[in-house]
Amino acid sequence: MQLPYAEPFKIKMVESIRKSTRQEREQWIKEAKYNLFNLRSEYVFVDLLTDSGTGAMSDKQWSEMMIGDESYAGASSYYKFLSVINNLLGMPYFLPTHQGRAAENVLFSALIKEGDYIPGNSHFDTTKGHIEFRKANAVDCTIDEAFDTTLIHPFKGNINLQKLEDVFKKHPKEKIPLCIITVTCNSSGGQPVSMENIKATSALCKKYGIRVFLDAARFAENAYFIKIREKGYENKTIKEIVKEMFSYVDGATMSCKKDAIVNMGGFIAFRDLELKKQSSVFNIMFEGFLTYGGLSGRDMNAIAQGLMESTELDYLEARISQVEYLGNRLIEFGVPIQKPIGGHAIFVDARKFLPELPKEQFLAQTLGVELYIEGGIRGVEIGALLADRDPITRLNRFPELELLRLAIPRRVYTNNHMEYVAVALANVYERRKKITNGFKITSEAPIMRHFTVELEKV
Ligand code: F0G
Repeated sequence: MQLPYAEPFKIKMVESIRKSTRQEREQWIKEAKYNLFNLRSEYVFVDLLTDSGTGAMSDKQWSEMMIGDESYAGASSYYKFLSVINNLLGMPYFLPTHQGRAAENVLFSALIKEGDYIPGNSHFDTTKGHIEFRKANAVDCTIDEAFDTTLIHPFKGNINLQKLEDVFKKHPKEKIPLCIITVTCNSSGGQPVSMENIKATSALCKKYGIRVFLDAARFAENAYFIKIREKGYENKTIKEIVKEMFSYVDGATMSCKKDAIVNMGGFIAFRDLELKKQSSVFNIMFEGFLTYGGLSGRDMNAIAQGLMESTELDYLEARISQVEYLGNRLIEFGVPIQKPIGGHAIFVDARKFLPELPKEQFLAQTLGVELYIEGGIRGVEIGALLADRDPITRLNRFPELELLRLAIPRRVYTNNHMEYVAVALANVYERRKKITNGFKITSEAPIMRHFTVELEKV
């Protein structure tokens, strides 16, 4: 018999989680104003709100924590971090930051002015938030295939080069400080970008004299998809693929809370020393001195170790096959999810799940609340709440996709938990015709409202 698959790790420490009753959950979610971010984590059984900062560190990462150097300037931990940036990513310079959006804040402070245009593939909400906060415009150039959840395409995160070139032709170069390629593309469903597309985007940017940066939060998962889906990469190591991905760009922002498998951290990588110097001013002002940028020495050590681990094929196979396991079970139950299955999460198509409900009643949020009530599972809405209002017209934006994201933390849950989630969602699917009322907003922030929005049942 062929031996079945098993994870390349065993578990050294466990954390108890508590089951609750349906009645308790109905009460708790009502008190939370139907915003899943407002729930206490003890009220959640399987927490799939995010894969950000929720991963389990390895024994090696924990041992690195013990030997962190907490010197204010020039800590050995900084140099350990730098050496991974140099050797793994092939980037000469970097600034540590406390998380991904802090990297965006620092870099964009140096680069973006009012009225600028920043093209990319479905910018993540914090990225878009930091662009729009500066009264600039995020232009989505994702390929159209990304918006059809049933269409199988190996690289739905790809940039449509025609859309990108149109932006370059329409606006003067001085108004386009950078183009951002998000790998994998979170907002379009955790979908990867092909090496060919990264290369072609980079060439087009070069032709027009525009900088190109990666939003590298999930760069290792992207590299895994390149290895298994793109011709010519099947025999390359993940680390070789990563090096090539970064070779086409001028820099990167990264939330280390994802593919560095730590609870907190981020960085900006640069090829150009001058831009690093310009950004350094803001790093000192917002984050901290250049050799720690909002991080403890021990955090930097754990990040350096985590980046090396997440770029191992063994680890990525376990990671992505668990996401696939959940996705395949849901497909068997007939639940409409985005295909192909993405790298860090399952994206449930709420419009197909609840076709009778009007979009003004926040479909994905409605589904998220129902799943919580069903099984104590917390997902997150990637739909109209997340999309915010248009900064000029102040009208609600209704994106093409209304998704409920179930993000899987790294190395945290077992496949039994995935099975539990699949059955709970299948139960909601079975009673979907009885879900006739969505939500309306009673209170919201002017930007990035989804974190704090308050809702009531229609
Ligand atoms: N870029 C991408 C692609 C992200 O997914 C995130 C965060 C960020 C940037 C910002 O990083 O949280 O460290 O400030 N995504 C989390 C999520 C919040 O749940 O997907 P951060």
